[in-house]
Amino acid sequence: MKIGIDKIGFYAPHLYVDMNKLAVARNVEPEKFTIGIGQEKMAVPPITQDAVTLAANAALEIIDEDDKEKIDFVIFGTESGIDHSKSSAVYVHQLLGLKPNARAVEVKQACYGATAGLQMAKGHIALNPDSKVLVLGADIARYGLNTSGEATQGAGAVAMVISADPKIMALEENNVYYTNDIMDFWRPIYSDQAFVDGKFSNEQYIAFFNKVWGQYKEMTGHALEDFEAICYHLPYTKMGLKALRTVLEEAPENVQDRLKENYQISTMYNRNVGNIYTGSLYLSLLSLLERKEDLASGSRIGMFSYGSGAVGEFFTGVLQPNYREHLHLASHESLFASRKEVSVEEYEEIFENTLPKDGANIELDIEQDPAPICLAGVNDHMRQYVNKNN
Ligand code: CAA
Repeated sequence: MKIGIDKIGFYAPHLYVDMNKLAVARNVEPEKFTIGIGQEKMAVPPITQDAVTLAANAALEIIDEDDKEKIDFVIFGTESGIDHSKSSAVYVHQLLGLKPNARAVEVKQACYGATAGLQMAKGHIALNPDSKVLVLGADIARYGLNTSGEATQGAGAVAMVISADPKIMALEENNVYYTNDIMDFWRPIYSDQAFVDGKFSNEQYIAFFNKVWGQYKEMTGHALEDFEAICYHLPYTKMGLKALRTVLEEAPENVQDRLKENYQISTMYNRNVGNIYTGSLYLSLLSLLERKEDLASGSRIGMFSYGSGAVGEFFTGVLQPNYREHLHLASHESLFASRKEVSVEEYEEIFENTLPKDGANIELDIEQDPAPICLAGVNDHMRQYVNKNN
């Protein structure tokens, strides 16, 4: 039985800051951000968007009545959770109107959470072939104003429906995963901004990729030639390229060219959104699927997932017949086209405008936010979510 991605949706906040302008404000050459880091625009989440609303907005565009009937498991990968106890998945389950006979949990391992969710979903479908699983990956990447991580912030979500006989991508077996306890990036529970050892995190990302790719080759006998493209977790778009370059020489020149060209296509969305942590790998996959018009059904795509701390995984999928008919290209084009630029000063103001930390009530103006699902405030320590479509 084939199991895999039946649907894939995406959402990013409606505001962004231009990286050229951020560079000027930070006294840095713009090329450092646009070429050295590889980012053009960075999504800026208004106070009315959090991990729950981002994920719910991403799922809203793909869920239909049949999905609502069949989804019996919601797995929410995030490292931007809003509660230490209640899972974000329960809120999304309610906001989407899913059936009550469902499981709903949150999964955390930095940017690896959604991949863990995807693999758990695969197991669930193997045991329950008639059901569907909603896998969410949503995050707000925050390092702080004027930090070296600032240029690698972002916000957004990817939602995927996982099922038997998937319409987009069938997941293959032969996953290779690897865990090692390192301190490259972490966020203690008292902080809303990440701590990071930037250079070390880059090195470890590449070391984890080399480890799982090497084991994958040994286990399967596959080589780079067997892949149409490899998608990477993209904290910034240069990062995956650094990892890809360490193995490219294993392949003949025509394969190298193909992988490099497809890599660039797989970074187009991420370049304009920034890091969305656990959704980033899947945003890269979406970018490849939607922006490479002649990507053939039957192509094998490699996927490298990396979650600091750290867990890495290499796995693969095969594109299904007519998969392009099941993408939401037009709605993503309009999402990107309708975004609004904010100045660096406005971005800084939005960044610092956070929810009260002392438990005070707050009412938020959701009319300024075009998203269907918004955070309308906090009342009695409870976040108040609104689906404007209801
Ligand atoms: N023109 C072109 N390129 C330029 C340039 C210019 N004028 N000036 C500098 N550059 C290049 C540099 O040569 C460098 O390129 P290489 O890495 O290819 O050598 C690149 O721009 C970045 O320059 P620096 O290394 O000097 O940048 P930095 O030290 O200020 O910060 C960073 C870079 C370490 C990635 C930092 O942004 C950071 O800490 N980010 C957060 C951590 C992160 O994203 N880590 C990635 C791996 S961990 C992970 O993947 C999990 C996750 O999501 C967090």
